[in-house]
Amino acid sequence: MNPKKFFIETYGCQMNVADSEVVATILQNSGKYIYCKTIEEADLILLNTCSIREKAEHRIWGRLDNLKGLKRNNSSVIIGVIGCMAERLGDKLLDNEIVSVVAGPDNYRDILRLIDLACNNQKAVNTEPSLTETYDKIIPLRLDDSTVSGFVSITRGCNNFCTYCIVPYTRGRERSRNPQDILKEIIHLKESGFKEVTLLGQNVNSYYWKNDNEDFNFYDLLELAAKNNPEMRIRFTTSHPKDMSDETIKTIAKYSNICKHIHLPVQSGSSRILKLMNRKYDREWYMDRINAIHEIIPECSITTDIFSGFCTEKQEDHEETLSLMKWANFDMAYMFKYSERPGTYAAKNLTDDVPEEVKLQRLQEMISLQNDISLKSNRSDIGKTFEVLTEGISKKKNNELFGRTSQNKVVVFPKLNFKFGDFVNVKIEDCTQTTLIGKSV
Ligand code: SAH
Ligand code: SF4
Ligand code: F3S
Repeated sequence: MNPKKFFIETYGCQMNVADSEVVATILQNSGKYIYCKTIEEADLILLNTCSIREKAEHRIWGRLDNLKGLKRNNSSVIIGVIGCMAERLGDKLLDNEIVSVVAGPDNYRDILRLIDLACNNQKAVNTEPSLTETYDKIIPLRLDDSTVSGFVSITRGCNNFCTYCIVPYTRGRERSRNPQDILKEIIHLKESGFKEVTLLGQNVNSYYWKNDNEDFNFYDLLELAAKNNPEMRIRFTTSHPKDMSDETIKTIAKYSNICKHIHLPVQSGSSRILKLMNRKYDREWYMDRINAIHEIIPECSITTDIFSGFCTEKQEDHEETLSLMKWANFDMAYMFKYSERPGTYAAKNLTDDVPEEVKLQRLQEMISLQNDISLKSNRSDIGKTFEVLTEGISKKKNNELFGRTSQNKVVVFPKLNFKFGDFVNVKIEDCTQTTLIGKSV
């Protein structure tokens, strides 16, 4: 029998991108399914979903609504919801008439059985959390056309229970993967032509493995990855400020192929709010970590996540956030407004008492401040030369390429004879708030 065709749409964070590759590998290795590039030709459609904010879930409901037409025209197509929203809502998703498969992030090894049930007109759901599943020994199929930059998960789940956050409930307890398996995956990427790998985890700094009674920490893993793959760039995300150690910062400084970029989500500039968030650090600790990074790696860029309007946030807390943003001079920031997530500590025990318009107003102030800071940061790069890893054709002009610096800034430059995957030295001549513009030298 010819294999059936499947299509996966991925929402949410990079971990979902990596997980979609795991699911694709499981499907394709069965010989029963083959990946296809357009949704219209698919016999099986999977949405790999995110629950981080209410809006993320709204988007999935909207998507399911507009897949109804497709299902009407082809009633045999199987539609499944997987990922964090599947974990959070479980069989409630089956109330939607077009959904017949639901699988949580720890249940992808069971996906073929679930799909078989659905093919026999049964609704199939598995959202059983696991304490051990890390999808070891599954070398992921790469779905993206790009063969320049890839992802490898190093931990799954999260134990931090920040009071606003749904992730510990959708992804379960933190587990680290065997370093040798991680290394094998990086080498596999390298042998497939990849030039860059991003090590993924909700809190990479708490990566921990015991090797013959010896501790193996995140900085040991960074070193292992960097030493064994000197021709590859190594990135990692996300770092939690509470666990950002000097040893890690020194390891980043020591290896030229470890990118000089740290994504260090601060969430708020107010120590009172940070405490309510259960972030386990205060404003001073965060500032101390930034100072340590600047001291040990002067050329390092620092980016962050922040959100406005957490429970009880007052104007003075908000001002502390703005003043921290000014002080830290983040090169870039992802900014949000608080969205209460059912089941979290905050939803159960704190009051979502900042009015929507105040959340929005504060968010807008943060965005406009950060826009100025990002522009200033980019302007300060004019005249400097950076090694850029070429990733693709610029969206605006097809005679230009784009790539990223070690600091993770996007650079566009004339294509000439360069190809994707080339390392090119580019001198920066101009910039916008989001992009550096230059010429190869
Ligand atoms: N593990 C990472 C973050 C993962 S979620 C860390 O600890 O930093 C990505 C970002 O979404 C978070 O950093 C936070 O800024 C934001 N976020 C998480 N829950 C949220 C919520 N309930 N409302 C608004 N933003 C939220
Ligand atoms: Fe969520 Fe906090 Fe874990 Fe990040 S560290 S995933 S914000 S609980
Ligand atoms: Fe979203 Fe789950 Fe990632 S909630 S941000 S897809 S871990």
